[in-house]
Amino acid sequence: MTIAVIIPAAGTGSRFGGSLPKQFQPLAGKPLIQHVIERFLIDENVARVIVPVAQILLASVKNSERVVFVAGGETRQQSVIRGLAEVDDAELIAVHDAARPLFSEATFHSVVAAARELGAALPVIPIADTVHRMNSDATVAETLDRSMLAAAQTPQCFRADILRDILERAQREGIEGTDEAGLAARFGYTVKAIPGDPRNLKITVPEDLVIAESYLEQWSRA
Ligand code: CTP
Ligand code: MG
Repeated sequence: MTIAVIIPAAGTGSRFGGSLPKQFQPLAGKPLIQHVIERFLIDENVARVIVPVAQILLASVKNSERVVFVAGGETRQQSVIRGLAEVDDAELIAVHDAARPLFSEATFHSVVAAARELGAALPVIPIADTVHRMNSDATVAETLDRSMLAAAQTPQCFRADILRDILERAQREGIEGTDEAGLAARFGYTVKAIPGDPRNLKITVPEDLVIAESYLEQWSRA
């Protein structure tokens, strides 16, 4: 089995703020994105890790045998599409946010196994808060049934033909999704959810980095 991994890392981190995009912020001594790349490389089935980054950074990064940097796009989806162009003959393709440094190898193995069997898979976690659909004037329209909702995480994994198909269709139909699992479901594919881990948080605001540091510390002591 061969797996290609696409790690979209071309965002500016507007919610995080500051001049250094969040995926390059230091966490326990190395940039977030380095944690991510290294953890994927542990798996021998991962033939290639493709990292879409801002065009301006391409001159200062170096490709290696298994890690390839490419220019990202205007949106996360466009960055993933740019990455997909660098995938050659992988059987499965995983997509993982550069801003999630704390995914576990166990989660990766679970989505890979589920995607092999069913075509597409992602980790999800239950939602703790009550969720309301809102009106544009910041009043509550209705309360959604929390038991029917789940928060999507990455890594998400797909049979290569499925990922190609859904991204082509999204392009053609002008649909901009915030993850590939949502696109796959929208286009009629079965997308299997496996239990995610609340510690696999997406670094979004500076406070998240403090939380991530403390999780890492717990792990290193365990
Ligand atoms: N991403 C990307 N290309 C873009 C936008 C986002 O590759 N044009 C990547 C980000 O670098 C990140 C992942 O997609 O690893 C998830 O996106 P998000 O957490 O929203 O990051 P940003 O878009 O950078 O942050 P913000 O939305 O706060 O600006
Ligand atoms: Mg964003």
